[in-house]
Amino acid sequence: MTKNVSGFSKLTKEEKIDWLTKIFLTDIKSAKTILKSYWNKEERLQQLHDEFIENTISNFYLPYAVAPNFIINGKSYVLPMAVEESSVVAAAALVAKFWSERGGFKAEVISTTKVGQIHFMYEGDFNELQHYFNSIKLTLLKATESITQNMRKRGGGILDIELKNKTEKLPNYYQLHVSFETNDSMGANFINSCLEVMAKAFRTDDIEIVMSILSNYIPECLVRAEVNCSVDEFGENAEVFTKKFYQAVQIAHIEPYRAVTHNKGIMNGIDAVIIATGNDFRAVEAGAHAYAAKDGQYKSLSHCSIKDGIFKFWIEIPLAIGTVGGLTALHPLAKLSLEILQKPTARELMQIVAVAGLAQNFAALKALTTTGIQHGHMKMHLQNILNQLGASQQEKKELINYFEDREISYNSATEALEKLRITKILDP
Ligand code: MEV
Repeated sequence: MTKNVSGFSKLTKEEKIDWLTKIFLTDIKSAKTILKSYWNKEERLQQLHDEFIENTISNFYLPYAVAPNFIINGKSYVLPMAVEESSVVAAAALVAKFWSERGGFKAEVISTTKVGQIHFMYEGDFNELQHYFNSIKLTLLKATESITQNMRKRGGGILDIELKNKTEKLPNYYQLHVSFETNDSMGANFINSCLEVMAKAFRTDDIEIVMSILSNYIPECLVRAEVNCSVDEFGENAEVFTKKFYQAVQIAHIEPYRAVTHNKGIMNGIDAVIIATGNDFRAVEAGAHAYAAKDGQYKSLSHCSIKDGIFKFWIEIPLAIGTVGGLTALHPLAKLSLEILQKPTARELMQIVAVAGLAQNFAALKALTTTGIQHGHMKMHLQNILNQLGASQQEKKELINYFEDREISYNSATEALEKLRITKILDP
């Protein structure tokens, strides 16, 4: 029997759930209960979420937390973070406190240029194409004037259009490579609209447009964040610790297997703030990893140096993000996140997000080069294991105490819970 359906998007939410549960699930009642338990009681809010995408049947929650005590360029911040991984927020808060007592984080935006491309095929003479491009460049800019009007008023818009010959790599393939300044918006819609209008004006019988789309590779939309302090600040084993930390970063620069995990740790912090502020984490991820491979080998996004007794740790990362447009004003929690961050400009948000990544990387490397990662991770994860085992609040409290100085694993938690229950039966 075929399980295909036509006209699915036209069904009501209830009808979609009826169809899905009947065709694909066995326990229909429980599936419906789960889906509906995540509906928001406030109808207007639920409708807002329903309309973000097509075929919405429920909401998928992520914990929304805050990490306090971040000092960035001398200003205090509390970072909103949406993330499911147990230790991410705890690590951010811990690192924020540590560095707030050592001058805080310094961050600067290096550049904010975004890119879009019109990809096209042309079989004729290159000089003629170049001549045609030169003659039509102003017309292309004029064609976008109604779209760029507001952006230009705020100092942004189209910065340049270049004709690029790519025929050495693919026969007949050329591009119009367009650079943009999109101010406080991420600018995806703005860029794509400009490109499509320009493509229409550029097309001729000899020029076959393949596609027009922004690029998520934005090596010129860059931000840098840094922490530094005297090596002595790291206490008793300062020299050993900072040396190992430095080595860990060096390893991530030359060994791609390690670099990917190292950068994943950075993205733990970055994605959490990106999601909490309603930005596009897939775009940020794609751009960051491409940048990590810009020299032909995938490498660490963070860097470390120890010179004249000064420990320095920094990150350089491309971030195309916005504080206006998209979900930033539409999603009530994204809007609130930006308020918590004191309504930053896109440039400020770039700095905050880069700091979140650097802080997370610092926490991971500190743990990895000292106690190991599992100690802190499992401590945070214990709650999840105990919830999975159906422990009561009281049992959780007792077992969290019990595991304060013991090794945590799924088995050890199961055994300890069983023992606790037996003891309670024997000695209530
Ligand atoms: C886990 O989510 C992230 C880490 O693996 C990062 C790292 O190894 O640097 C701990």
